[in-house]
Amino acid sequence: MKKTIILLSIFVIILIVSLMDCVFFLEKEVSIKHDTIPLTKHWETSILHQEIPQGLVSLSAKDCGVCHQEIYHEWQQSTHAVAFQDLQFQAELKKDNVLVCLNCHIPLQNQQEYIVTGLLNGDYKTPVKTPNPHFDKTLQQESITCATCHVRDGNVIGTMGNTNTSHSTIADGAFLSEQLCLSCHNVVDELNPVLACTFETGDEWDSNWAQKSGKNCISCHMPTVERSIVAGFPSRKSHSHYFPGSGIPKFYDMESKGLDGLEIVEDNVKETYSIGEKINYNLVLINSYAGHNVPTGDPERFFLITFKISDLEGEIIKQDEYRIGEKWEWYPAAKKLSDNNLRPLEERVFSFEYEVLEKEKLTFTVEITKHRITKENAEWDGILEDYPRFIVVFEKTYQMNG
Ligand code: HEC
Ligand code: HEC
Ligand code: HEC
Ligand code: HEC
Ligand code: HEC
Repeated sequence: MKKTIILLSIFVIILIVSLMDCVFFLEKEVSIKHDTIPLTKHWETSILHQEIPQGLVSLSAKDCGVCHQEIYHEWQQSTHAVAFQDLQFQAELKKDNVLVCLNCHIPLQNQQEYIVTGLLNGDYKTPVKTPNPHFDKTLQQESITCATCHVRDGNVIGTMGNTNTSHSTIADGAFLSEQLCLSCHNVVDELNPVLACTFETGDEWDSNWAQKSGKNCISCHMPTVERSIVAGFPSRKSHSHYFPGSGIPKFYDMESKGLDGLEIVEDNVKETYSIGEKINYNLVLINSYAGHNVPTGDPERFFLITFKISDLEGEIIKQDEYRIGEKWEWYPAAKKLSDNNLRPLEERVFSFEYEVLEKEKLTFTVEITKHRITKENAEWDGILEDYPRFIVVFEKTYQMNG
């Protein structure tokens, strides 16, 4: 009897110990699940809260614009000014609620509703956040605003060290250099298997002729203009603030300035063809004017080159289409499948051939379009109706007699 009780007690003790072990193990599991991973990369956090520089009434672009009128109007037309309202951005934000996206689109902490201090379990979809007591909704609507690039530690940052200003100003040319552009335009990282940041404009540019030629992001995208920067002040070296890029507007009622990266060399077409003769057309595209790949940045961008032969009634007889851009697969994991973007100074020939089979009047059209997003993806984001997807950058029609 005594022996049985001892054996039973030993058994119970073993049971309790193993159960405790189990609980302890579970606790360890739970504590792993609740680990907050700190934010370490520069784009994972906002730009710390900024105070209004002495002499100014707010950080708002609108208020800078009271004195810097021209620059303000230029900036208003830039995509920087609507990086938050961008319909595709809003659609994607709503879907995933990945707050880290805000750090390049509304980068100042003052613009963000929440202060994010870490990621639960390292997952971007579960940020650890507290409400921001200094959240400024007006400033949020200004997206990449003047203060994003010009205000730090209670000072306006310029490059001249001018003291005859209405605000406390410091000169910091190193800060206002292309390094500033690269902080958002050159980030490659994997957020999770299906979400990736792939902005490589800086890397594309760094290794090529543009750097050797002394041109950088600022000299091409903010060309210099002699003018007074505040009405009544003497003329000085200034920089245009349109930030022209693709030229594809973000809203149908928005003007958008673009740059042309491609040099287009057309071919000749004869006015009359005989039966059995072949129409051969070679279109040459050279990335002559952008120091980086064309297209660059967002991997969804692409160009389409379309050749079309139609008859007298407008019926299409033959159509060929070529695409310049990247192709990605997003599921099960983000992966680049191909990339035939034109490298700086790269030259590519696009050929079209058609054999005339009967005597008839033909119309031959060559068209180049530049796209932000495919129709399918715009549809998927629910923005098909309202989001300008592409612009025509070249169109030529030739009439031919058979
Ligand atoms: C009350 C008028 C006024 C307001 C408001 C104002 N500025 Fe200025 N700012 C000036 C004047 C005046 C100058 C000097 C003009 C000159 O150099 O020709 C100046 C110069 C500058 C410079 C050039 C400094 C340098 O290095 O030469 C920058 C950059 C600048 N302002 C940015 C801003 C920004 C950003 C805002 C809003 C946050 C702003 N300003 C609001 C009047 C104003
Ligand atoms: C030598 C001039 C030049 C330099 C240097 C340059 N760019 Fe561009 N960039 C262009 C041109 C031209 C385009 C228009 C290309 C097109 O769509 O035909 C462009 C387009 C863009 C676009 C729009 C995306 C697109 O595919 O149209 C972005 C974003 C951009 N550049 C950012 C930058 C950044 C960031 C830098 C610095 C790393 C930079 N650029 C340096 C000339 C330049
Ligand atoms: C994306 C960054 C960026 C934004 C946004 C931006 N600027 Fe600038 N700004 C610059 C850079 C870069 C320079 C040129 C620095 C240099 O090389 O001298 C500059 C120059 C200036 C200057 C000095 C004169 C000149 O034209 O060179 C003024 C004034 C100025 N900006 C005002 C503004 C105002 C006002 C806004 C908002 C309406 C604004 N900036 C938005 C980057 C920016
Ligand atoms: C705080 C992050 C940030 C900084 C700094 C920044 N950009 Fe941008 N830039 C963006 C974002 C985000 C967009 C896209 C906005 C959109 O499409 O909704 C953009 C758009 C552009 C475009 C237009 C692309 C198009 O579609 O036409 C150009 C050109 C450009 N930036 C150039 C520059 C240059 C030059 C600098 C440096 C003076 C700079 N950016 C600094 C974030 C930034
Ligand atoms: C490291 C800075 C950075 C972060 C973080 C970032 N973006 Fe952007 N975003 C950019 C830049 C730079 C551009 C402009 C690139 C260009 O014009 O080629 C841009 C452009 C866009 C555009 C416009 C594309 C177009 O065709 O004009 C959308 C939509 C967008 N981003 C969505 C997002 C979403 C969603 C997230 C979060 C998952 C995010 N961004 C995070 C820098 C950033």
